[in-house]
Amino acid sequence: MSGERRQRIKVEGVTKLFGNVTQAVLDRLDRGEPREAINRATGCVLGLRDVSFDVAEGEILVVMGLSGSGKSTMLRCLNRLIEPTRGRVLVDGVDVTTLKPVELRAFRRKTFGMVFQHFALFPHRTIQENVEFGLEIQGVEPIKRRDRAMQAIQQVGLKGWEKALPSQLSGGMRQRAGLARALATDAPILLMDEAFSALDPLIRREMQKELVQLQNQLRKTIVFVSHDLDEAIALGGRIVLMKDGEIVQIGTAEEILAAPANDYVADFVEHINVLSVLTAGRIAESAPPTFREGLRIADLPARLPAAAAETLCVVDEAGRLVGTVAGDLLDAVVHPDRTTLGDLAVRNGPVVRGDASLQAALTVLAGCREPVPVVDDNRVLLGVLTARAVVAALAHQQTPPGADAGAADRKEAAWTGPFPSSLSPRSATAPSRG
Ligand SMILES: Nc1ncnc2c1ncn2[C@@H]1O[C@H](COP(=O)(O)OP(=O)(O)OP(=O)(O)O)[C@@H](O)[C@H]1O
Ligand SMILES: [Mg+2]
Repeated sequence: MSGERRQRIKVEGVTKLFGNVTQAVLDRLDRGEPREAINRATGCVLGLRDVSFDVAEGEILVVMGLSGSGKSTMLRCLNRLIEPTRGRVLVDGVDVTTLKPVELRAFRRKTFGMVFQHFALFPHRTIQENVEFGLEIQGVEPIKRRDRAMQAIQQVGLKGWEKALPSQLSGGMRQRAGLARALATDAPILLMDEAFSALDPLIRREMQKELVQLQNQLRKTIVFVSHDLDEAIALGGRIVLMKDGEIVQIGTAEEILAAPANDYVADFVEHINVLSVLTAGRIAESAPPTFREGLRIADLPARLPAAAAETLCVVDEAGRLVGTVAGDLLDAVVHPDRTTLGDLAVRNGPVVRGDASLQAALTVLAGCREPVPVVDDNRVLLGVLTARAVVAALAHQQTPPGADAGAADRKEAAWTGPFPSSLSPRSATAPSRG
């Protein structure tokens, strides 16, 4: 999906060593010495090792990993708040790593908005004055400044609070103000570091939803650091998973869940809420036998394929779903030579979109005995969803690659309810350091 969009950020082989970086240290790096060994021998900390990835325009990229894995270092290398030891960062084709200090400051202001965990608001300035701050240092004139600030305040739902001081606002509202300040500058790229981590869970989820909505409206490019898998899933974009300063996998939550790159990733996603990540399209039994709406019942094959015997999917010339016909209805047709499938099709039956989460699809499936057609945006039939396929998919997800079969059996034996307890829709958070 991101391949079709313009590339906004390109990170090429970025390495960051903290400490007194001499040639001897770089030689160790080049020999591929492990992080700990380099640290023990030289005192230098390897923050990032040869990190490469890109971010498309309008994408929300979530950088995840345990504490100390290099997330913040990476984010700060993007705008050179931290100076990379090696590698290049290209933003809209500009090599940020070669900019001189004055150019860099101007480029940073114009291009990046930053939002942090602790909102960093000035306590003695009103919300409006705080939001105006970025514009003020850009030298924007007062009237324009106020207009833009008010617009941003409105966008984050803080209208009416512009004259308040930060201390008069709740944590969630302060974080909104922090976001408004980043939005007000019109910077196309937002860098957000654990921006919602200090908020309580309900407010946090609300902010995640609103960020996605804002993102749809404003088409910002967002790099969002988080150590929370649920948050990454809620934001819905690709995930860069880091460990010890290196990238271990890049992909959507669904891709990572379907094919974890190694045991570390598998462990990381073990407690993932599968229902919210897997999509109906991935689980649907693809290519069900389909029949054109103009086909007469008399012309149907005498023996239908097993998958169609129960429910026939009827499509138009373009492959778009017209409706479904229950298999047992066919024998009861009085004039099979004068009746088409289109005549019999139930046209407003339940359907599920391919990109719907399994969670949403299950709600539909629970209300039907027959397989439910799965369609794309244009109602083109992608497949059918059956309870059997869902159970099979969930059972498969129970056994990550590398897991010992015995453990899977034990899990299965403990599976007494409709779904295993570890798959129930509850908060699943990756472990983090305190
Ligand atoms: N200025 C610094 N000097 C020395 N080491 C540093 C410095 N900044 C970061 N590090 C080290 O680099 C590594 C990566 O740190 P970073 O802050 O990027 O991790 P993180 O993934 O953001 O962790 P957290 O989730 O705790 O914020 C850590 O081992 C950290 O101790
Ligand atoms: Mg950090």
